[in-house]
Amino acid sequence: MWYRRTFDKPEHSEAQRFFINIGAANYKTTVTFNGELLGKHEGGFTPFSYEITDLIKAKDNYLIIGVDAGRVADYIPAQVTDWFNYGGITRSVKLIATPQTFVNNYFIALDKNTLESKSKTLYGKVELNGASGAKNVTIKIPELNIEKAITINQDHSANFSFEVKNLKLWSPKSPKLYQVIIETEDEQLKDAIGFRTIETEGRAILLNGEPVFLKGICLHDENPFKKDRANTREDAELLLNWAQELGCNFIRLAHYPHQEEIVRLADKKGILLWEELPLYWGIQWGNQKVLEKAKMQYDELINRDYNRASSIIWSIANETAPGTDRNAFLSELADYIRTKDKTRLISAAVKKDQELDGHPDSVYTYNDPLIEKLDIISINEYLGWYGGLLEESRTKSFTTGMKKPIIVSEFGDGALKGFHGDKHTRWSEEFQENLYKESLAMFDKIEGLSGMTPWILVDFRSPLRQLRGTQDGWNRKGLISQKGEKKNAFYILKAYYDKK
Ligand code: GCU
Repeated sequence: MWYRRTFDKPEHSEAQRFFINIGAANYKTTVTFNGELLGKHEGGFTPFSYEITDLIKAKDNYLIIGVDAGRVADYIPAQVTDWFNYGGITRSVKLIATPQTFVNNYFIALDKNTLESKSKTLYGKVELNGASGAKNVTIKIPELNIEKAITINQDHSANFSFEVKNLKLWSPKSPKLYQVIIETEDEQLKDAIGFRTIETEGRAILLNGEPVFLKGICLHDENPFKKDRANTREDAELLLNWAQELGCNFIRLAHYPHQEEIVRLADKKGILLWEELPLYWGIQWGNQKVLEKAKMQYDELINRDYNRASSIIWSIANETAPGTDRNAFLSELADYIRTKDKTRLISAAVKKDQELDGHPDSVYTYNDPLIEKLDIISINEYLGWYGGLLEESRTKSFTTGMKKPIIVSEFGDGALKGFHGDKHTRWSEEFQENLYKESLAMFDKIEGLSGMTPWILVDFRSPLRQLRGTQDGWNRKGLISQKGEKKNAFYILKAYYDKK
């Protein structure tokens, strides 16, 4: 796809610098401005920018963006995905005007070591971009009577920390957001930020020091009514409202970074989030360039969402088979992410050992070497749909080699809304209803189960799913149909969460 847009420079603007910001373009993007190549970007789901200060003219500027959605073996994801590969520019493109020196990035978080004390500590970092020389920056949180001046040193950044009293913590029950202002002599940035801690202790996940059960659901970044990416505020409202109707306090934003709107709305509504890069199925694990791409795309995602209280987990893989190259790749990626962000947990959806060596067993074991690098063990389990008989769920048990929190990150089955039969009739609503009942009873037996995100809230488009008359290009594992109708199983999961 080639896109072209002409525009004039904003008049009467004191701005001295201009940037083009692209919210997301899938997958390989070439950006030129007034005939000059600004750069090339790889990655389908994270934002990126280019400076055009020296190229912008008063009149008739033209921006040309070329996007190639073709799948290639050394991409992230690679060539096979169970979702529709929406190509091209999938989110907003913005012209951003700034002063000569501007706040390029800022991070702020609650120091978890002060969680128990009356006065808490907030710490973070401000990075400037622009003229050299010391600059004064003021950080204000009016509601907490905070006004702190910090001096930016030669390398254009400064760390800070300060005590606050009467801090209200952010949580699903009380999603408190504070206005945080970052001020320089040239600009005033405002953001709404919630403060919380997320940690693990044994098999428990602790939010603000208290155990939390993650009543979740998986979600693709798609509005089924539009048959398009969910890329507006209204789309985010639609999907989060469905999740809240289901009784969720948690959503797995599968399998790639979703739009920023849904993360900011989750902050407001008090819904915890799992975010992930599409290191999905077959990735070129032995290719150093692919690891560099993964690090760069995580940089873009962490820079975008670092200050979002709702985002609590970075996932680094989905259903990837253990192997020397894969273990090394993901181990290094986990270490890298931890150097960038110490305020979140790391997980990955792993396979049970039996899927790897094939022997059926009544005890499912999880000894994937990747687990050592994870804070949370997440398991995808489709007993009764992709293998085995649902009745076996009564005799199954689960053990993991390491004592860490366990999330069931996927289970479920296909059901065509309006197709009815008995509980043995595959694709019927009754089959799905029964599979949820039996699966929930099976997972309840997992010692220290810390949460679950069944697959999936809404039917979604996937070219892999071509069963005529039943799938027709849609994956039918949704609890809600592509027309927004709830299936029987929706109410089974809702009742389970209401009791939690
Ligand atoms: C897989 C995979 C999903 C897929 C789902 C399914 O585990 O993680 O992306 O859509 O199961 O088979 O429907």
